[in-house]
Amino acid sequence: GIGRQAFSREDFLNFVSEQSRGFIKEPAVTEAMWRSFVARLEFVTLDATVADDYPRLGAALREGAERVFYLATAPTLFTAICHHLAAAGLITASSRVVLEKPLGRDLASAVAINEAVGAVFNESQIYRIDHYLGKETVQNLMALRFGNSIFEPLWRSPTIRNIQITVAETVGVGTRGAFYDNTGAMRDMVQNHLLQLLCIIAMEPPASLDPDAVRDEKLKILRSLKKLSTSDVNRHTVRGQYLAGTVNGERVKGYLQEEGIAATSRAETFVALQAQVQTWRWANVPFYLRTGKRMSERLTEIVINFAELPHLIFTENSSLRPNRLVIRLQPDESVRLHLMAKEPGDGMRLRPVSLDLDFNEAFTTRRADAYERLLMDVIRGRLTLFMRRDELEAAWAWVEPILDGWERLGDPPRSYTAGTWGPGAASALIAREGMHWPEEA
Ligand code: BG6
Repeated sequence: GIGRQAFSREDFLNFVSEQSRGFIKEPAVTEAMWRSFVARLEFVTLDATVADDYPRLGAALREGAERVFYLATAPTLFTAICHHLAAAGLITASSRVVLEKPLGRDLASAVAINEAVGAVFNESQIYRIDHYLGKETVQNLMALRFGNSIFEPLWRSPTIRNIQITVAETVGVGTRGAFYDNTGAMRDMVQNHLLQLLCIIAMEPPASLDPDAVRDEKLKILRSLKKLSTSDVNRHTVRGQYLAGTVNGERVKGYLQEEGIAATSRAETFVALQAQVQTWRWANVPFYLRTGKRMSERLTEIVINFAELPHLIFTENSSLRPNRLVIRLQPDESVRLHLMAKEPGDGMRLRPVSLDLDFNEAFTTRRADAYERLLMDVIRGRLTLFMRRDELEAAWAWVEPILDGWERLGDPPRSYTAGTWGPGAASALIAREGMHWPEEA
């Protein structure tokens, strides 16, 4: 552990225990395992911007041990830290650096971070964390797509009509007001988590699971995203900000009343937009992305809506609905294929039913937390689930015109009451194309 606090080792161990024990449970971590873990911890008091502090860190590093520098700091410190680590001779050929988001606030700042970190670490030593990639169900998406042959021929236009990715949270900005107000949902969630989900859904089958094979395919998707002009931004995006309301039966404040938020803030806590992947596979298949805080429920879900039937033979019906594949990532993990089946009895009435795969039932083994998996990957030197430099820059290159478009249009974010599914305009955005969000079915 490294920080500016003048912690003794004992203070630090107490701090780690207090912060962690509530989350670390037997049988995954036994008392003996925990003790052997904390026995290895050290604390170094260091100001990241002071060169003279770094030799102290050098003295605490064990000879021959793998060095992983995890920078969970403000990105403005990345440059100084990397520079000082190198100057103090602390970076070995096998050292790694882990970078926590936000990795910049626009393309230029992301490039500057990449340049500065790249000046002292090789790309193969840099682990840019997006914890969504560590989620079990996100990897299951890869298993679903590339471990089964039945989906591939269907995974395209015109068999698929549209794809919807929702990451809804019930939490507000909590204690992170000052950070969030300067960030907003576009930078906090869309630029990274939602775009990464989109990439995994949309990418071509990689030749292998080698880091660059997968990252090359994701990069192609990011580069194929149609850039939005200001009029596209006006038409195909909605941003919102929550008002006071009720979430899970509890009254909650509006965004502007949260701690650390400027009274006139225009930061968005909700984004819905339509994206287009300009490739043969995805021609005319809109991707709808939606994320927000203080929404009606906590839900991360990908819905693949298949095309309408080309010809109807069941005329006495009823509720014929196109097929839908729903991949739920949170709170429960499941894959559900919605089909039509005949209702028992006379006649030929069809009714929607679903084939369900519930991961909690199918696998009883404990699933690793996203960060747990990613930290293990860093230690083992596996880069597949980390963003490469060009991916990060391509994501910003797509996001930046949207942020600029909002600036240019000058409209404030639309209000939505906490505990709802966001501003009504988000429904209108999708209804214009004859579609609706899953909860509106
Ligand atoms: C983080 C964002 O990256 O992801 C937070 O900064 C957000 O604002 C969080 O709440 C959501 O992660 P999860 O795993 O709870 O869906």
